[in-house]
Amino acid sequence: MSDLSADLLAHAVAAKGFMPDDEGALLHRCAAERASSGPLLEVGTYCGKSAIYLGAAAQAAGGTVFTVDHHRGSEENQAGWEHHDATLVDPAIGRMDTLPVFRRTIHDAGLEDVVVAIVGRSTTVSAHWRTPLSLLFIDGGHAEEHAQNDYSGWAPWVMAGGLLVIHDVFPNPADGGQPPFHVWQRAIAGGAWDDVETVGSMRVLRRTSGEAGDPVG
Ligand SMILES: C[S@@+](CC[C@H](N)C(=O)[O-])C[C@H]1O[C@@H](n2cnc3c(N)ncnc32)[C@H](O)[C@@H]1O
Repeated sequence: MSDLSADLLAHAVAAKGFMPDDEGALLHRCAAERASSGPLLEVGTYCGKSAIYLGAAAQAAGGTVFTVDHHRGSEENQAGWEHHDATLVDPAIGRMDTLPVFRRTIHDAGLEDVVVAIVGRSTTVSAHWRTPLSLLFIDGGHAEEHAQNDYSGWAPWVMAGGLLVIHDVFPNPADGGQPPFHVWQRAIAGGAWDDVETVGSMRVLRRTSGEAGDPVG
């Protein structure tokens, strides 16, 4: 099943987040292809917008989405930066907390049984991860260190034939930050992936060599 229901599409479009509708549709289509083959994992939950696109596909296939975030926001989400949203600050501690909004978003979309939140640093969780993934979506921290760590920690766990989807890939620096593009370049140079599709800043690669757990370069 690859059609996104009108109800879930409306929830995804309305959710707080940074994903254009056409990129969300691509993410859903990729997830729909893979969701019956094993779990989907997203790095970078934020408020759950992309998790709805993934979760809709998983729900239709009887699958599961894991979504990893410390819920304290990336550098660009902090006060004084371009993508800061003051409504996401927990006034009791003065720090970002996107977890309550994520929980409400996934509840309202009817996806609580399908989308599983993992709250923690990407590197901490990936260090303990051993499960083959049918699809990995990298949309976490966009600083070089975090983007590279997400690839190093998670990409080896994509199963043979599985998909790696990278968001915010901008070859031209005038269009956006370069770390996700550097990750895409690293993946291509590593030789374990075919470049299969691009929509906007979303790049899709398919694992063509090795098994889950093997190095990917
Ligand atoms: C661009 S937002 C994700 C947007 C989301 N995928 C969507 O489309 O709605 C990036 C998220 O990554 C999280 N993040 C940044 N660095 C992280 C890290 N090292 N470990 C876990 N989460 C991190 C931030 O808290 C933020 O919520």
